Amino acid sequence: MKILILSGPNLNLIGTREPEVYGTDNFDAMMKVWEKQFPQVQLQYFQSNVEGELINKLHEVGFTFDGIIFNPGGYTHTSVALGDAVKAIKTPVVEVHLSHVMKREEFRHISFISPVAAGTISGFGMRGYELAIQSFLK
Ligand code: DQA
Repeated sequence: MKILILSGPNLNLIGTREPEVYGTDNFDAMMKVWEKQFPQVQLQYFQSNVEGELINKLHEVGFTFDGIIFNPGGYTHTSVALGDAVKAIKTPVVEVHLSHVMKREEFRHISFISPVAAGTISGFGMRGYELAIQSFLK
Protein backbone atom coordinates (compact mmCIF):
# COMPACT_ATOMS: atom_id res chain seq x y z
CA MET A 1 0.00 0.00 0.00
CA LYS A 2 1.34 3.40 -1.05
CA ILE A 3 0.38 6.54 0.84
CA LEU A 4 1.62 10.09 0.25
CA ILE A 5 1.70 12.60 3.06
CA LEU A 6 1.38 15.96 1.36
CA SER A 7 2.06 19.22 3.19
CA GLY A 8 1.26 22.72 2.05
CA PRO A 9 2.77 26.12 2.86
CA ASN A 10 4.64 26.78 6.10
CA LEU A 11 4.39 23.16 7.21
CA ASN A 12 8.17 22.84 6.64
CA LEU A 13 8.48 24.97 9.78
CA ILE A 14 6.34 22.71 11.96
CA GLY A 15 8.29 21.91 15.13
CA THR A 16 9.32 25.53 15.60
CA ARG A 17 6.35 27.42 14.07
CA GLU A 18 3.83 28.58 16.70
CA PRO A 19 4.49 25.55 18.93
CA GLU A 20 1.59 26.50 21.20
CA VAL A 21 -0.74 25.92 18.21
CA TYR A 22 1.03 23.18 16.23
CA GLY A 23 3.20 21.38 18.79
CA THR A 24 6.95 20.73 18.76
CA ASP A 25 7.19 17.53 16.67
CA ASN A 26 8.47 17.86 13.11
CA PHE A 27 7.65 15.77 10.04
CA ASP A 28 11.18 14.32 9.63
CA ALA A 29 10.99 12.75 13.08
CA MET A 30 7.34 11.71 12.72
CA MET A 31 7.98 9.97 9.36
CA LYS A 32 10.46 7.69 11.15
CA VAL A 33 7.83 6.93 13.81
CA TRP A 34 5.09 6.18 11.25
CA GLU A 35 7.42 4.07 9.07
CA LYS A 36 8.14 1.88 12.12
CA GLN A 37 4.51 1.84 13.21
CA PHE A 38 3.14 0.92 9.75
CA PRO A 39 5.77 -1.34 8.09
CA GLN A 40 3.13 -2.61 5.67
CA VAL A 41 2.71 0.88 4.20
CA GLN A 42 5.08 2.57 1.73
CA LEU A 43 4.97 6.11 3.02
CA GLN A 44 6.20 9.07 0.99
CA TYR A 45 6.42 12.68 2.09
CA PHE A 46 6.27 15.85 -0.01
CA GLN A 47 6.04 19.47 1.12
CA SER A 48 5.79 22.64 -0.94
CA ASN A 49 5.05 26.27 -0.30
CA VAL A 50 3.98 26.60 -3.94
CA GLU A 51 0.35 25.93 -4.88
CA GLY A 52 1.13 24.67 -8.40
CA GLU A 53 3.69 22.17 -7.08
CA LEU A 54 1.04 20.72 -4.77
CA ILE A 55 -1.32 20.40 -7.74
CA ASN A 56 1.41 18.72 -9.82
CA LYS A 57 2.07 16.24 -6.99
CA LEU A 58 -1.64 15.42 -6.66
CA HIS A 59 -1.75 14.74 -10.43
CA GLU A 60 1.48 12.69 -10.30
CA VAL A 61 0.40 10.23 -7.59
CA GLY A 62 -3.38 10.60 -7.76
CA PHE A 63 -3.99 7.69 -10.16
CA THR A 64 -1.61 5.10 -8.71
CA PHE A 65 -1.32 5.60 -4.94
CA ASP A 66 -3.79 4.07 -2.47
CA GLY A 67 -4.16 7.17 -0.37
CA ILE A 68 -3.12 10.77 0.07
CA ILE A 69 -3.06 12.51 3.44
CA PHE A 70 -3.21 16.20 2.68
CA ASN A 71 -2.68 19.18 4.92
CA PRO A 72 -3.01 22.14 2.55
CA GLY A 73 -2.10 24.67 5.28
CA GLY A 74 -3.43 28.15 4.53
CA TYR A 75 -4.42 27.11 0.97
CA THR A 76 -7.20 25.06 2.57
CA HIS A 77 -9.20 28.23 3.01
CA THR A 78 -8.41 29.91 -0.31
CA SER A 79 -7.61 27.45 -3.10
CA VAL A 80 -10.31 26.55 -5.61
CA ALA A 81 -7.53 25.01 -7.72
CA LEU A 82 -6.44 22.56 -5.01
CA GLY A 83 -10.06 21.54 -4.43
CA ASP A 84 -10.45 20.98 -8.19
CA ALA A 85 -7.24 18.89 -8.25
CA VAL A 86 -8.45 16.65 -5.40
CA LYS A 87 -11.75 16.22 -7.26
CA ALA A 88 -9.96 15.39 -10.52
CA ILE A 89 -7.86 12.47 -9.22
CA LYS A 90 -8.84 8.90 -8.36
CA THR A 91 -6.84 8.34 -5.15
CA PRO A 92 -8.88 9.14 -2.01
CA VAL A 93 -7.64 12.13 -0.05
CA VAL A 94 -7.93 12.51 3.71
CA GLU A 95 -7.62 16.14 4.82
CA VAL A 96 -5.65 16.63 8.04
CA HIS A 97 -5.13 19.72 10.17
CA LEU A 98 -2.90 19.73 13.22
CA SER A 99 -4.99 22.40 14.93
CA HIS A 100 -8.73 22.36 15.51
CA VAL A 101 -9.53 24.79 12.69
CA MET A 102 -13.22 25.16 13.60
CA LYS A 103 -12.20 26.51 16.99
CA ARG A 104 -9.97 29.18 15.42
CA GLU A 105 -10.59 32.35 13.36
CA GLU A 106 -13.66 32.36 11.13
CA PHE A 107 -11.63 32.47 7.89
CA ARG A 108 -10.26 29.03 8.83
CA HIS A 109 -13.79 27.58 8.98
CA ILE A 110 -13.94 27.48 5.17
CA SER A 111 -12.28 24.56 3.38
CA PHE A 112 -12.14 24.05 -0.38
CA ILE A 113 -10.83 20.53 0.31
CA SER A 114 -13.40 19.11 2.77
CA PRO A 115 -16.26 18.82 0.22
CA VAL A 116 -14.06 16.69 -2.07
CA ALA A 117 -12.09 14.77 0.59
CA ALA A 118 -12.91 11.26 1.81
CA GLY A 119 -12.81 12.68 5.34
CA THR A 120 -11.28 15.36 7.52
CA ILE A 121 -9.28 15.03 10.75
CA SER A 122 -8.62 18.21 12.68
CA GLY A 123 -7.34 19.10 16.11
CA PHE A 124 -5.33 16.01 17.11
CA GLY A 125 -1.87 17.30 16.23
CA MET A 126 0.49 14.71 14.69
CA ARG A 127 -1.78 11.95 16.00
CA GLY A 128 -4.20 12.99 13.25
CA TYR A 129 -1.76 11.56 10.70
CA GLU A 130 -1.69 8.22 12.50
CA LEU A 131 -5.51 8.16 12.41
CA ALA A 132 -5.46 9.07 8.74
CA ILE A 133 -3.04 6.23 7.88
CA GLN A 134 -5.25 3.84 9.86
CA SER A 135 -8.27 5.00 7.88
CA PHE A 136 -6.66 3.55 4.72
CA LEU A 137 -5.88 0.16 6.27
CA LYS A 138 -8.44 -2.58 5.85
C1 DQA B 1 -3.33 24.10 9.43
C2 DQA B 1 -4.44 25.11 9.72
C3 DQA B 1 -4.43 26.24 8.71
O1 DQA B 1 -5.46 27.17 9.00
C4 DQA B 1 -3.11 26.98 8.75
O2 DQA B 1 -3.09 27.98 7.78
C5 DQA B 1 -1.96 26.05 8.62
C6 DQA B 1 -1.97 24.79 9.36
C7 DQA B 1 -3.23 23.02 10.52
O3 DQA B 1 -2.58 22.01 10.27
O4 DQA B 1 -3.79 23.18 11.61
O5 DQA B 1 -0.96 26.37 7.98
O6 DQA B 1 -3.60 23.46 8.19
